[in-house]
Amino acid sequence: MNVGMLYSRIRKDEKLLLAELRDRGHAVEKIDVRKQSFGLSEPPAAFEDVDVVLDRCLATSRSLYATRFLDAYGIPVVNSSATAEVCADKVKNSLALAGAGIRTPRTEVAFTSDAALEIVERFGYPCVLKPVVGSWGRLMAKIDSRSAAEAIFEHKETLGHYEHKVFYVQEFVEKPGRDIRVLAADGEPIAAMTRHSDHWLTNAAREAETSAFELDDEAGEIVAAASEAVGGGLLGVDLMELEGDDDPGYTVHEVNHTVEFKALNEAVDVDVPAAVVDWLETTVEDGHSPTETSVGAHS
Ligand SMILES: Nc1ncnc2c1ncn2[C@@H]1O[C@H](COP(=O)(O)OP(=O)(O)O)[C@@H](O)[C@H]1O
Ligand SMILES: [Mg+2]
Repeated sequence: MNVGMLYSRIRKDEKLLLAELRDRGHAVEKIDVRKQSFGLSEPPAAFEDVDVVLDRCLATSRSLYATRFLDAYGIPVVNSSATAEVCADKVKNSLALAGAGIRTPRTEVAFTSDAALEIVERFGYPCVLKPVVGSWGRLMAKIDSRSAAEAIFEHKETLGHYEHKVFYVQEFVEKPGRDIRVLAADGEPIAAMTRHSDHWLTNAAREAETSAFELDDEAGEIVAAASEAVGGGLLGVDLMELEGDDDPGYTVHEVNHTVEFKALNEAVDVDVPAAVVDWLETTVEDGHSPTETSVGAHS
């Protein structure tokens, strides 16, 4: 197949994919999103011969718009714009999970600091404030007191750009010092790892310690449901374990759509890029575009 890799920076993840694709004899066109311009009906020349596009854009805005254009041109893209739209925004992500009946941390959203303060006072301390768009644990706040909440909300309201006028408040989950990242292709887990840290943020990008994790049946079912809830595709599903809870199990805090996997690849025995390319080959060979198969609750 002829794969278009849409990127702005070739990270280790993209290098792994490129090597795997080329080893198998697939043609790969590296398409630098920064050099493209997208018209309303004809695809840019770089996309003319590709069978499928892998969206590996770092910037959410680029990923959201480029996948929209590719959909409009009828060019299959992983992940679809519908999936990207849900996953790129924590409000839409949470609504999709809750709407599908998947356990997710208690969350409320408000649009002024006063209304947000009311949520925090009701939830109790600590609680969590997240930017609606972002990753790698950036700009996340664990709020321990009313005075901290007031200060953070005032900063956001005064200094933040418009996305930061949305106050996404979440209960703090007493996880066991780690969370779980599952890489899944259309709901089928490829591999999973725990991310352990003394810090409450356990992102791999923050140097959390990673180890391979065996999914049990319950986690497997949750991952499949979470994938479907956001429209399917190649996804990173983030879960936390509720050990001390009255009702132990898993809660899903987010699903990621342009997922990094280099840390996962090092943590597990599975050859992650090979599994990703296996899935990509099947999806393209089956003749159904990833776009068409990705009909989720929010497409
Ligand atoms: N409600 C929560 N309670 C406790 N820890 C959380 C909560 N939400 C997120 N975390 C921790 O913060 C990390 C980043 O949160 P996440 O929602 O995945 O945002 P990002 O998109 O920045 O990765 C998670 O991996 C987890 O360790
Ligand atoms: Mg995350």
